[in-house]
Amino acid sequence: MDKRLEGKIAIVTGAGQTPGDTIGNGRAISVLFARAGAKVMLVDLRLDSAQETQAMIGREGGESIAFAADVSRAEDCRRTAEKCAETYGRIDILVNNVGIGGEDRGPVDLKEELWDRIFRINLKSMFLTCKYVLPYMEKQGSGSIVNISSVAAVCAVSMLAYKTSKAGVNALTHSVAMKYASKGIRVNCIMPGLMNTPMAIEGFSRLLGINKEDLIQARNSRVPLKGGMGSGWDTAYAALFLASDEAKFITAAVLPVDGGQCAKIG
Ligand SMILES: NC(=O)c1ccc[n+]([C@@H]2O[C@H](COP(=O)([O-])OP(=O)(O)OC[C@H]3O[C@@H](n4cnc5c(N)ncnc54)[C@H](O)[C@@H]3O)[C@@H](O)[C@H]2O)c1
Repeated sequence: MDKRLEGKIAIVTGAGQTPGDTIGNGRAISVLFARAGAKVMLVDLRLDSAQETQAMIGREGGESIAFAADVSRAEDCRRTAEKCAETYGRIDILVNNVGIGGEDRGPVDLKEELWDRIFRINLKSMFLTCKYVLPYMEKQGSGSIVNISSVAAVCAVSMLAYKTSKAGVNALTHSVAMKYASKGIRVNCIMPGLMNTPMAIEGFSRLLGINKEDLIQARNSRVPLKGGMGSGWDTAYAALFLASDEAKFITAAVLPVDGGQCAKIG
């Protein structure tokens, strides 16, 4: 059995998921971390969704707690870090997974409120969780942070605020990694590509009014690697590696998990 995270305490944000047929990134990361021996604090705006993840982990004999918090709010991030330390005595791993898209089509049509909302939820949230978790990691002299970015940060896509906020996540990763490297804290990020998750399929088919099967086919055909889109598990396996001690010499990495999408021309 995989015990790479035995004895570790992890916080995963966005550990619930958008309802749908497949597994989301945050839920897959949480389940996989628990399978690898971590105790996981499942943070989500929607407590019921985090509790569903908790039930999945419980059925497999793992340990987790579900916690309601809005990670775009400083006070909620402070309470999250405090609750984790109170419950488990330490914080070894933080996965910043929360992120949203939206009707984000370019500078003329994009509403200012939506730009602000996307930046608050995708980028400011990661600053805030780091702000309140890092002091615990610094005291321990160790820690691993994994931020979930997107290939949109580096590939040409029409989404303006989403792309720019995710480019900010890559930059935040570099900045925090350099500031905390000498303290034994590693900070890396993952850029998932086209994934078959409820947020991407059910979410976008609703938002764009596209038939779900057509959307799946269109996304599959854009992935260079045979097999089409990736899944939440692909993101989770990369997060597990980066969070574990196997990655002890890896910090400030920006890892695409995208079936080759970043290298594709056109
Ligand atoms: N699915 C893809 O194709 C894809 C591709 C690239 C990147 N990503 C990134 O993956 C991440 C999430 O993927 P997912 O599959 O877990 O999505 P998801 O929508 O299934 O889950 C996100 C969870 O975050 C929660 N949430 C939203 N706002 C919150 C807030 N302010 N505070 C706390 N919780 C909040 C939601 O309730 C939801 O349960 C995002 O950062 C996204 O940008 C996804």
